[in-house]
Amino acid sequence: MRLALVQTAPRMLEPRANLESALALMEPLAADVYLLPELCFSGYTFDRKEEVAATAEPAGEGEVFDALAAFARERQAYVCWGFPERAGERFYNSASLVGPDGHVGTYRKVHLFSRETLFFSPGDAPAPVYDLPFGRVGLMICFDWFFPEMARSLALRGAELLLHPANLVLPHCPQAMITRSLENRIFSATCDRVGTETNGATTHRFIGSSQVVSPRGELLARLGREQQETAVVEFDLAAARSKRLGEYNDLFGDRRPNFYALASR
Ligand code: ACM
Repeated sequence: MRLALVQTAPRMLEPRANLESALALMEPLAADVYLLPELCFSGYTFDRKEEVAATAEPAGEGEVFDALAAFARERQAYVCWGFPERAGERFYNSASLVGPDGHVGTYRKVHLFSRETLFFSPGDAPAPVYDLPFGRVGLMICFDWFFPEMARSLALRGAELLLHPANLVLPHCPQAMITRSLENRIFSATCDRVGTETNGATTHRFIGSSQVVSPRGELLARLGREQQETAVVEFDLAAARSKRLGEYNDLFGDRRPNFYALASR
C-alpha cells in the first residue's frame, strides 16, 4: 500500500482556506491512504468555545467531510484527518476515516491534552480498528501516544497500521512512536502540522517531523520541522502480521498478563 503524509500549516479559524491548501498538496500524490494532522482545518489553539462551535462538523457530514469524501471517491482511496466534532451539545477532538464508499468511521480522542480539556469532552469509546482492502488499520490521535496502552490495545485487536493525526508541541513523540511500532510489531504513521499559532493568551509552536515507522522500528520517512511537506511511502502490511521474534519468542504469545499487576486498572 502507499500512504501519503500531508504535513500542513493551517491558519487558525480558516477552515475553507485550509481545506483548499490541503487539497492542493494532496492533488499530485498517488496513494491508497492520505493522512492529515489533528484539527487540521479549524486550527488547534482555541480560545473560546464559540470558536470550536463555529468550525465543528458532525461525524460524516459537513463541508470538510463532503470535500474529502469526494476526493476519496474520485481517487478510490482513503483519507484520515482530525476535526472538531459536534455531537448535540458536546464537542469531541475527533479523527474521521472516509473511503471510496463513504464514511468508514470516527474516533473521539480519549486522552485530551492541556487546554483541550476546556473545549472538548473526552472520547467515550475504544479506539477503532477497521478492515480495509490492504489490511487492518487503527486510529489514535496525538497525545494518545503518551499512553502505551492505546497502541498496545489497538495492536492486540489486530491493527497492523496506526493512523495517528497529531498537532505535536512536545518534542518526544517522534522517537516514542518508534518504540510503539517496535513493541507492537506494527506500522505507525504520525502526521503532524508545522507553524506557530497564537490565539488569546496561548501560543503553540508545532514541531512537524511527520513520519512512518515499520514494525521493526525503522524510519521509512520523516519530514522536516518547519515546512508544509508531503511524502508517499510504500509498504506491505503483511510485515506486521507475524509477531515472531526469532526462533524462541513471540511478542504477543510471550506476554504474561497474570504478572502485570496493573493490567486491569
Ligand atoms: C496534542 O495532543 N495535540 C499534543
